[in-house]
Amino acid sequence: MLVISDIKVLRATVRAWRQAGQTVAFVPTMGNLHSGHFKLVDEARQRADRVIVSIFVNPMQFGANEDLAKYPRTLTEDCAGLTEHQADAVFTPTPELIYPRGLDTQTAVEVPKIGDQHCGASRPGHFRGVATVVSKLFNLVQPDIALFGKKDYQQLAVIRQLTMDLSFPIEIIGIDTERATDGLALSSRNGYLSTEARATAPLIYQQLQWLRQQISGGFADFRALEQQVADTLSQAGFRPDYIHICNRQTLELADSNSKPLVILLAAYLGNTRLIDNLEV
Ligand code: PAJ
Repeated sequence: MLVISDIKVLRATVRAWRQAGQTVAFVPTMGNLHSGHFKLVDEARQRADRVIVSIFVNPMQFGANEDLAKYPRTLTEDCAGLTEHQADAVFTPTPELIYPRGLDTQTAVEVPKIGDQHCGASRPGHFRGVATVVSKLFNLVQPDIALFGKKDYQQLAVIRQLTMDLSFPIEIIGIDTERATDGLALSSRNGYLSTEARATAPLIYQQLQWLRQQISGGFADFRALEQQVADTLSQAGFRPDYIHICNRQTLELADSNSKPLVILLAAYLGNTRLIDNLEV
């Protein structure tokens, strides 16, 4: 597997693939790879001749009080995993390469309607950082397809929107969430959980499933359902950020006339912010 940290080498590599008539799949990540990430790589392997992964802990999407400095960086293990999963190349730029003039970039990408709700409301500027770096990575790599996890449901919606609005000739593919056997969605942030918190964390997925059951059973007062889940999570020691039953396309709060639906949820357990979702 090629490890590339230079833009000229990146462009020359992808150009050579293209000249050989090969299709290119791209999986952007922030590293500390787990089987959720590798599921995207395996799916990419099935769908294109060449697979390129990026590992870049993007400072622009972290708020001032967030975990940028302590975000786990495990490049050696990540490269071993990517070799095993038959990636052709990994792009590992430095922040200076992506943001040569610092974080005050003159040009940024914003997707306000989708990006300002839910996680965007709790993490101002987060999706501006995601949308900007993904746009830059799309321009650098120029893949045919790019794969993202449904684990970050709102992020996937933001990326679908910007791809359409900025006319990137890239097919966006959403991949189902990989979970631990007890239902907890895999995430690099699970490593921050204490043993006790890790045992409590699967309640999130249990509550999402309970909500789906209530909705499918015809319970129509969505706001009351959301409040009930917030109460249950609070009693178990979580600090719920939001529980929103939404329209799957617009991600706006839904009522019982709206279909199809997705439930979006974010909650703190100790200092760790966990997110999950479930399509209904
Ligand atoms: P990161 O959190 O590293 O995630 C990289 C990709 O893996 C994302 O598309 C994410 O949705 C997917 N992913 C994470 N956990 C998953 C799971 N349990 N099952 C399936 N897919 C999962 O998301 C980012 O990085 C960044 O915001 C990025 C898009 C790279 C921009 O910086």
